[in-house]
Amino acid sequence: MHMHRLEKMWLTFGVAMLAVFLIVLGIGVFANGAQPPTTHAHGGHEKPAPELAEETAPFDKPGLHKIGDNEYKLVMVAIAFAYKPLEDKIVIPAGATVHFEVTSTDVVHGLQIPGTNVNMMAVPGETTNFTFTFKKPGEYLVLCNEYCGNGHEMMWTTITVA
Ligand code: CUA
Repeated sequence: MHMHRLEKMWLTFGVAMLAVFLIVLGIGVFANGAQPPTTHAHGGHEKPAPELAEETAPFDKPGLHKIGDNEYKLVMVAIAFAYKPLEDKIVIPAGATVHFEVTSTDVVHGLQIPGTNVNMMAVPGETTNFTFTFKKPGEYLVLCNEYCGNGHEMMWTTITVA
């Protein structure tokens, strides 16, 4: 009887310690996840701060730019919770090859166009490149597939291929 009570006490103590451990671990993970994104300068040269992306070429001029015969550069800036260009409708001639150049001014976003293989990360302080030829005319949804906060679900735009 005496031993049984002692075992019970140790078991309770063990469970309590496990609970404390899990709580501490949970807080640690949360604190890590809540940290603001940090940028690292690569190769010894300084990169502009992500929030200054919109003042730095090519991101100071988001939108579609013709660079050749049937070839375009599409500069997009991901911001919580939208994609720039905001007002300009993106209209791409069918059959055109588009070179995406994407960045983010805040957190990591995931630029995806369902029905295509366009899927790229928009990373603060970095440029992501992706090339895609829009053969089929239609309206393409551009969404965000990386959870980026309260407005994540509302973060989308469209591209018209005509
Ligand atoms: Cu941006 Cu989710």
